[in-house]
Amino acid sequence: MSNDSISRRDFVGAVAATTGAAALATAPGLASGRPVAAADKVRLAIIGAGGRGNQLLDHYLKRKDCEFLYVIDVDDKHAAETADRIARSQDGKKPETGRDYRKALDDKNVDAVVIATPDHWHAIPTIHACQAGKDVYCEKPVAHNVAEGQAMLKAARKYNRVVAIGTQQRSSENFQQAVDAVRSGKLGKIFWVQTWNFENISPLGMGRYPDTAAPEHLDYDRWLGPAPKRPYNPNRCHLLFRWFSDYAGGMMSDWGVHLNDIVLWALDQKGPQAVSAAGGIFTTDDDRDTPDTLQVVYDFPGTTLTYSMRKGNGLPYNGHKYGILFCGTEGSLMLDRSGFEITPDTVELPYGIKLVHGDRPIRKIALEKASHKAVDEGTGTHIDNFFQCLKSRARPTTDIEIAHRSTNTTHLGNIAYKLGRKLQWDVETETFKNDRDANALLAREWRKGYELPEI
Ligand SMILES: NC(=O)c1ccc[n+]([C@@H]2O[C@H](COP(=O)([O-])OP(=O)(O)OC[C@H]3O[C@@H](n4cnc5c(N)ncnc54)[C@H](O)[C@@H]3O)[C@@H](O)[C@H]2O)c1
Repeated sequence: MSNDSISRRDFVGAVAATTGAAALATAPGLASGRPVAAADKVRLAIIGAGGRGNQLLDHYLKRKDCEFLYVIDVDDKHAAETADRIARSQDGKKPETGRDYRKALDDKNVDAVVIATPDHWHAIPTIHACQAGKDVYCEKPVAHNVAEGQAMLKAARKYNRVVAIGTQQRSSENFQQAVDAVRSGKLGKIFWVQTWNFENISPLGMGRYPDTAAPEHLDYDRWLGPAPKRPYNPNRCHLLFRWFSDYAGGMMSDWGVHLNDIVLWALDQKGPQAVSAAGGIFTTDDDRDTPDTLQVVYDFPGTTLTYSMRKGNGLPYNGHKYGILFCGTEGSLMLDRSGFEITPDTVELPYGIKLVHGDRPIRKIALEKASHKAVDEGTGTHIDNFFQCLKSRARPTTDIEIAHRSTNTTHLGNIAYKLGRKLQWDVETETFKNDRDANALLAREWRKGYELPEI
């Protein structure tokens, strides 16, 4: 086993040796054990200081009630640049840097961690953080696969930690008001929902690149972590990892999670009863192995949801390149991060009915046209909520359980796409009904030394 591996035995041993049993305590409160009133500054470590990590810092660094003690990144360049950036807004107090997040978890002064690593590196540090008594803000999608999300949820509950996930739209007043409108019933019976992402990147996409040596400043083996070992390729690593199934779930999980999350919330559902999908790599000649064209159909009781994605044609749908459309018998609600519009419907006599039955009154629709302009997409308020929960110990707006279910819809879409058949889903047991092949895709093979920790 490599020295860098993260087996549970090694990890728990390391924590216990340095911080004693207190680090594994399940009692609520900040990990450092400070009384909440005295915790004028929450002490943080950021794990994963790439694109999103730095977007999150735009918000975290505005706060007066936190301080970063560590920047952990397997890329020394990202860690160093981000530590410099943090120092500039922390009166010169520069966080320690490192490649291995266990260094931050071993420090009893760290209250919570912010995880913005690629999807395949969400589960293991989240679980280890919970075991070390730290609270967690982890980016979406919850995990690379269903089993990892289940393990993260189990760890959050067992170790009594706050685990918030970065599906920040739920914290935006825009999405809150839109969901209230859908739930109010004024759109009538909601029976048809559409989510989508459209753009034209054909045919080149990210292109094709040869495998090459990894840069010196990157611990590439650790970047791979639980994913299979393979040569370094810049197209598969920073930022672009999301288009490869070893590390993520393509557009379906990268963006689909944000969209389907709002649908589950508005419909008050834990997940679909069934899923089917079709698609492929039809228009993009690049290195990706996830589809550039996808239609996923989900069955909910009395409602159908379709997630549509194409990367070979950018024609907007209802004027929007991405979005969520709720259709009810009284009208529709079209929603994205810029705002929402409510459009009343009109009722018609069915084709031919006039000839057979003569005139009859047409139902009048009372719904009024309305629109709302969004203030923002929610990240700032989402982080505010995380800080409130650190102190109150309440469940966050997108508690791990909520985001796990939303993420599952994206895993289901990808599994149905891979298998090419309709699958029946049991939302309570989170397994496919009578389908061994589909159930086998709920987990991954974790590379030796990077197995999912036992909880
Ligand atoms: N909520 C949102 O709106 C939103 C937006 C963008 C990205 N994201 C999510 O954020 C995550 C990161 O995406 P990104 O675009 O910032 O990717 P990125 O490649 O730019 O950044 C990831 C960083 O994590 C580092 N890293 C990888 N493995 C690590 C490990 N084991 N320990 C420490 N650091 C490690 C990488 O070196 C890199 O610096 C993804 O899960 C993505 O889906 C969320």
